[in-house]
Amino acid sequence: MQTQISNASNIQPIVKTSIPGPKTLAFLQKQEQNESNARTYPRNIPIAIERAIGSYIEDVDGNIFIDFLTGAGVLSLGHSHPEIVREVQQQMNNCCHALDIPTKIKSEFTELQLSMLPSTMRNNMKIHFCGPTGADAVEAAIKICKTYTGRAEVVSFQGAYHGSTHAAMSVSGLLEQKNKIHNIVPGVHFFPFAYCYRCPMELSYENCSTNCTKYLENSLKDSHGGIQKPAAVIMELIQGEGGTIPAPIQFVQEVRRITQELDIPLIVDEVQTGCGRTGTWFAFEQFGITPDIILASKALSGIGMPVSIVIYNKKFDVWSPGAHIGTFRGNQLAFAAGAAALKIIKRDNILENVKELSCYLMEHLNSLKQELAIIGDVRGRGFMIGIEIVEPHTNKGAGWIAKLIRKELLANGLIIELGGRNDCVIRLLPPLNVDRNTVDAALKILEHGLRTVEASIEQKLSGNLVSFS
Ligand SMILES: Cc1ncc(COP(=O)(O)O)c(C=O)c1O
Repeated sequence: MQTQISNASNIQPIVKTSIPGPKTLAFLQKQEQNESNARTYPRNIPIAIERAIGSYIEDVDGNIFIDFLTGAGVLSLGHSHPEIVREVQQQMNNCCHALDIPTKIKSEFTELQLSMLPSTMRNNMKIHFCGPTGADAVEAAIKICKTYTGRAEVVSFQGAYHGSTHAAMSVSGLLEQKNKIHNIVPGVHFFPFAYCYRCPMELSYENCSTNCTKYLENSLKDSHGGIQKPAAVIMELIQGEGGTIPAPIQFVQEVRRITQELDIPLIVDEVQTGCGRTGTWFAFEQFGITPDIILASKALSGIGMPVSIVIYNKKFDVWSPGAHIGTFRGNQLAFAAGAAALKIIKRDNILENVKELSCYLMEHLNSLKQELAIIGDVRGRGFMIGIEIVEPHTNKGAGWIAKLIRKELLANGLIIELGGRNDCVIRLLPPLNVDRNTVDAALKILEHGLRTVEASIEQKLSGNLVSFS
């Protein structure tokens, strides 16, 4: 069947039907019959995909959307990048799966990944290949730290998201997911993350010099603090699912200082921030720290082939053969895609594109913030951008307004997701190689959506309606 987006150039977002369109609706109904109640995305983004290329998705009803969700940050080079597809096709004829037996492509992928580390770290680090999800890297890292230190406890941060397997969920903040699961992995202690826009002490960042790290330091150093020395501290440098919250540099540096002083391994979860998403290959490069352990997954292959790794200082390599195994650790197609993606990112200066267009996006969003009362905060690094939506008169995070915006954007051809407390943050995760025209088209839809929803809310508020849900 000839689809409308048969090549990536000159595509424009066009929505011709109501959303979901009639053909999509049939797929959604079948899905509801046949698939798990735990499914998520199609509930909020009700489309069935016919085809996807670059920054665009066409649904089965012929509607074309700009994709600023990119598979939750997976598709760093957009959908089906043709050069990567070619490499994967070639690899398919060669070898698809090899457990953890070495192959040429695995060796190339491994060396390329290590080469992306700062020169001071490169020769001190090793890679463990995990089962193909970010959560499995989290599981592996916690095991590495427990084995190495012989300790049991783990420190994490409020608002963190590290995945939904048992241990990964236990170090995540999201209560909605955890509440129904009894006996989750014990020994996890949550400390405040520097979410300065919502500081519970109502301190401004300039005045507080990250008091939250003083609280962490005091709790871990206090002989009567009640927390046994942990096996690890795990943190995101920019919380993703928690609402796109970049930690202040000082916060991260303080956590590193404290963990170093107390000899606690620091795991930096770069599952979402890694592979160029924030404008550097790893986000930690922008924070002036050296982590002990780094986790990467989502965008490692550039086009969504599943792969997940733990990169750790060699001194932690004391676990035994078989300590963390899994059948799908040898996805050769993902290695071929990942090696190609990395070369393309370097060759095409894609991290420069991220930096340049990120500034452009942030400038526009910040100027919109001056005008629109529903925008409480605009924040992020690189192509990990969050817009916190608030109730105009109370400044409370307003998931109900963000949901109206998501619907309005989708109806006009832009796919985004929400995150944060109550889903009040619009999260933008464009492909790293998105072009300026697409960014302009997305901004136009975004601005229109924000203005339309703000106007409709004002009308409702002035009509004194109580409930808008
Ligand atoms: C920071 C972070 N860590 C871990 C994960 C879990 O990755 P996965 O969904 O592939 O298990 C995610 C997923 O969103 C994430 O954002």
